Amino acid sequence: MALQGRIKSLQQELTTSRPSCDAFLITHSPNLCYLCGFTGSAGALIVSKNGATFFSDGRYRTQAREEVRGARIVIVPKSPLSAAADWLLAFKKTSKLRSRLSVGIEAEHVTVAARSRLIRALAGGFRLRALGPLVEQARMIKDPEEVQKIRRAALLGSALFDKVLKAVRPGATESAVAAELEYAARRAGAEAMSFSTIIASGKRSALPHGHASNSAIPPRGFVVCDFGVILASYCSDMTRTIHVCRPTAEARSAYEAVRSAQQAGVEAIKPGVTSGEVDAATRKVLVQRGLGKYFTHSTGHGVGLEIHEGPRLAAGQTEVLRPGMVVTVEPGVYIAGKWGIRIEDMVLVTETGHEVLTPTKKEMIVI
Ligand code: GLY
Ligand code: MN
Ligand code: MN
Repeated sequence: MALQGRIKSLQQELTTSRPSCDAFLITHSPNLCYLCGFTGSAGALIVSKNGATFFSDGRYRTQAREEVRGARIVIVPKSPLSAAADWLLAFKKTSKLRSRLSVGIEAEHVTVAARSRLIRALAGGFRLRALGPLVEQARMIKDPEEVQKIRRAALLGSALFDKVLKAVRPGATESAVAAELEYAARRAGAEAMSFSTIIASGKRSALPHGHASNSAIPPRGFVVCDFGVILASYCSDMTRTIHVCRPTAEARSAYEAVRSAQQAGVEAIKPGVTSGEVDAATRKVLVQRGLGKYFTHSTGHGVGLEIHEGPRLAAGQTEVLRPGMVVTVEPGVYIAGKWGIRIEDMVLVTETGHEVLTPTKKEMIVI
């Protein structure tokens, strides 16, 4: 969908949603990127029934002109938020709508301090309404162009796993492995990593978010490798767990349990299924294998302009999967002081089922 189509849908939603709003002030960067294409760090967008206006400061004059589509551009020597407040004051003056204009703000993202500043700048005459995640809800369903970008990011992520495999060896530090991966990612065109790379070896593999540290990889044990790249503003996210030296029968059996759980989660994905049902599918396998209590996080999450976005694949979640959603399936088991295992793919919900976007194989790799 062209950017203008996204703003149009939002305008429609503003008039039909209850309570309705005369204008919606958006400041959350991924939402700005989604609605008008701006990828900088400081901007504000007002969407009203009459159209959209984007505000930024002098640092982004050229970039805004290059990127922003479907909105008028206003560059000011002050914060985008106060420029947006000025615009609202002027809008109210010329508008014959009614005495108090109702302005939506992003409840999930506007800080208490920013809201106070806004109230002071608007000096009455406005009603600020805390709106739910309207843009985030739209972002859950990716259009074909977004799917293509995510597909490319996922493929690049997978291709980089080779670099990880070459770098993982006993004695190498986790940071050194992450450095090789991140250097190769940049060389291959990644704009950034989508989150702080996780290379967690030995006992540290039991930390689900064990960021690469200066610890040396021990002579034997698991190494959880969880990483992603940002390409054309879209994130990838994948995890593979490698075993250094010959695994014990117990370690191999736990790995196969996680692999089966992950496969069950992937196979559960199709339109009409709830995100809670996908979580139940992975969890059931690990419970059957006696590992349920070691699966301490949710099954997955949506991925797109942000590494973590809707829908959440967690116990009891009722969000219904729809074609165009891209989610991760990433069950894991973590035994504190011993080891951890996680396997993660990105999966697209299609009209008829699903498509796995992460091509890297999942059989146990022993090095
Ligand atoms: N490392 C973040 C995630 O996989 O969700
Ligand atoms: Mn991950
Ligand atoms: Mn993930």
